Amino acid sequence: MPDATFKVFRGDINNGGLVEYIVPIAPGMVVLDALHYIQAHQAPDLAVRWNCKAGKCGSCSAEVNGHPRLTCKTRLDALPLDEPITVQPMKSFPVLKDLVTEVSWNYRINKKIPPFTAKPNVEWKMDQREVDRVQEFRKCIECFLCQNVCHVLRDHDKKEQFGGPRFFVRIAGLEMHPLDGISRTELLKKELGIGFCNITKCCTEACPEDIADFLVDTGATDSLAPSTELRKIGIEPAGRTAYELANGRVEEYSFGLVEISFMGEVTAGRVIFGPDEAEPILGMTALESVGITIDPATRTLKRLPAIPLK
Ligand code: SF4
Ligand code: SF4
Ligand code: FES
Repeated sequence: MPDATFKVFRGDINNGGLVEYIVPIAPGMVVLDALHYIQAHQAPDLAVRWNCKAGKCGSCSAEVNGHPRLTCKTRLDALPLDEPITVQPMKSFPVLKDLVTEVSWNYRINKKIPPFTAKPNVEWKMDQREVDRVQEFRKCIECFLCQNVCHVLRDHDKKEQFGGPRFFVRIAGLEMHPLDGISRTELLKKELGIGFCNITKCCTEACPEDIADFLVDTGATDSLAPSTELRKIGIEPAGRTAYELANGRVEEYSFGLVEISFMGEVTAGRVIFGPDEAEPILGMTALESVGITIDPATRTLKRLPAIPLK
């Protein structure tokens, strides 16, 4: 069997560094297998958190070659084995020991969010489209990789003022629930600081569950998302219309009518059924209808003092 070199962080919040281990490689191995090999044969005191080894418990999050990864889902045959593979703990949380970080701050934020609270006196009935829409946000496995890469937490350490993408996902699921009777938008704006989010999308790229999100496009009037993703959350076409593309070509697309939530705001509008490989786009109509615009100098979103009525 060929060998691979691993450089694994050993230490705690005060001291530590990368320690080299040589691991024999077998077909189908993932990074977590290599860590278990190191534990079994070379470093029985190596601290590694894991539980399911199936990408579902969210425990084994780490930084593999500097990228946020579930170690149980990161196959060795997808990594360059001719150079050392580094495995480090998530940077945004304090290290307890080796690869295990202290993530209890997330649970404290979670407690601030009022749970599902049923509307009084309504029939407990949901159609399948509503179930699918809410289900998208319930795919979260609480791996906290999105929290780890979000620059508001990672680089600016705004843990007192910002809840982070994992909790924006949880709130989106609750706010879109048709039988939920309370609003969490003030909490989102005031306590969880959603205004700090500048939609860089790093959280989406890190998410092993591919929880849907939207980009902003300064040139697009309507929002757009891949057709399959829209159908998955129960949105059906309401009509078809011609759109002029950036290259001047005119093409017909179906559109649906949807509720769009972002940055603690909610609006309604058209969403285009785009090609499946298309990046989701948040159009200017949705942005401007809630008084948000783009600052071209910083390429971030900013709130207008008031929504223009002209
Ligand atoms: S899009 Fe917002 S929440 Fe996600 S990483 Fe960027 S700043 Fe953080
Ligand atoms: S939203 Fe995605 S990246 Fe964030 S905690 Fe949930 S599963 Fe992990
Ligand atoms: S061990 Fe459960 S997600 Fe990796």
